[in-house]
Amino acid sequence: MTVMWSEGMIDREQHNQIEAAARLLRAGGVVAFPTETVYGLGADAANPQAVRRIFEIKGRPADHPLIVHIADAALLDQWAEEIPEAARRLAERFWPGPLTLILRRQPHVPDAVTGGQDTVGLRVPDHPVALALLQKLGPEKALAAPSANRFGRISPTMAAHVRAELGERVDRVLDGGPCRVGLESTIVSFVGGTPRLLRPGGISVAALEAVLGEQIEIPDTAQPAIRVPGSLPSHYAPVTPLEVLSAESLKRRSWELVKREQRVALLGLAPPCQDSPHLLRFQMPAEAVAYGQRLYSALRQLDAGYFNTILAEAPPVGADWQAVNDRLRRAPAVYCPAEIQHQETIHEKIS
Ligand code: TXA
Ligand code: MG
Repeated sequence: MTVMWSEGMIDREQHNQIEAAARLLRAGGVVAFPTETVYGLGADAANPQAVRRIFEIKGRPADHPLIVHIADAALLDQWAEEIPEAARRLAERFWPGPLTLILRRQPHVPDAVTGGQDTVGLRVPDHPVALALLQKLGPEKALAAPSANRFGRISPTMAAHVRAELGERVDRVLDGGPCRVGLESTIVSFVGGTPRLLRPGGISVAALEAVLGEQIEIPDTAQPAIRVPGSLPSHYAPVTPLEVLSAESLKRRSWELVKREQRVALLGLAPPCQDSPHLLRFQMPAEAVAYGQRLYSALRQLDAGYFNTILAEAPPVGADWQAVNDRLRRAPAVYCPAEIQHQETIHEKIS
């Protein structure tokens, strides 16, 4: 069953619908809900059986931990312990918002949620439907939720994406419109000494460092000690092969493919110029935040278009583009321009 939301405030009827979703969750159900980043697939974080259903629905390995979504930063101590002052400062400044903190877990947090690790990922989502759902669920409650996609695939940024991919396997999909950020949260670990970036995302490293007054470590181990499926080389993947190329190589490569009668979709920053029946040009925004917001839905749209190949123009290399470049790099690029391969990135450092 799907419930539609109008823009803006949540009215009484909408509250009733959220209440019904909360009842389902209390009974061990699994509900897809909107957040400002991507849609989540939620279950009561204190109910291991319900949480295990999330893994079944997604086809996700059981040892990959889930983020626990809470209604307020004041609930931090109920889920985590030994919380450093610096982590509290980030929570204070950026919650609700696209930031996940990895902290030492409270002993009661189920292994089903943490993948058996002694840490827990926590965040307060910045979406009225998610926050209302958490409030209805109850003051002590939380939602364990990964992105509402099948394991290894693109995260959903619209309710229709969830319905198309998970369909009836989910007890309910709450529709909160398109996600404002469109890329997953930034993940920072406070386990062991200095803060470490585990995934770039909706909040830039520079913004975090400005609040912390210290640098965030970017791990350079080939294999992360902590399991982060988002750091697998081929994550966030469309089904259609994707190649990320510099603007110059893009032109040559597209005509090479078109000459072979291949159907090519071109995800570019420049406005469309030439056309061919075999070539579809899809213009992306030239600004990083807007690009990030559109990326997953563009890839889904192109995936549905029966193309042989998606060619993406490599976005700029600046700090604003870190999360976008990270996600494009994790898609199975069969060819990358040298400047992208050698760019200093979180992906190369942690995967
Ligand atoms: O924006 C987001 O973070 C979205 C929305 C729904 O909140 N969620 C999301 O969840 O992207 P998921 O499961 O697709 O990705 C969460 C990442 C995974 O890579 C997971 O391994 C990592 O967070 N994670 C969760 N708990 C962790 C922990 N205790 N230690 C290390 N990594 C953890
Ligand atoms: Mg995910």
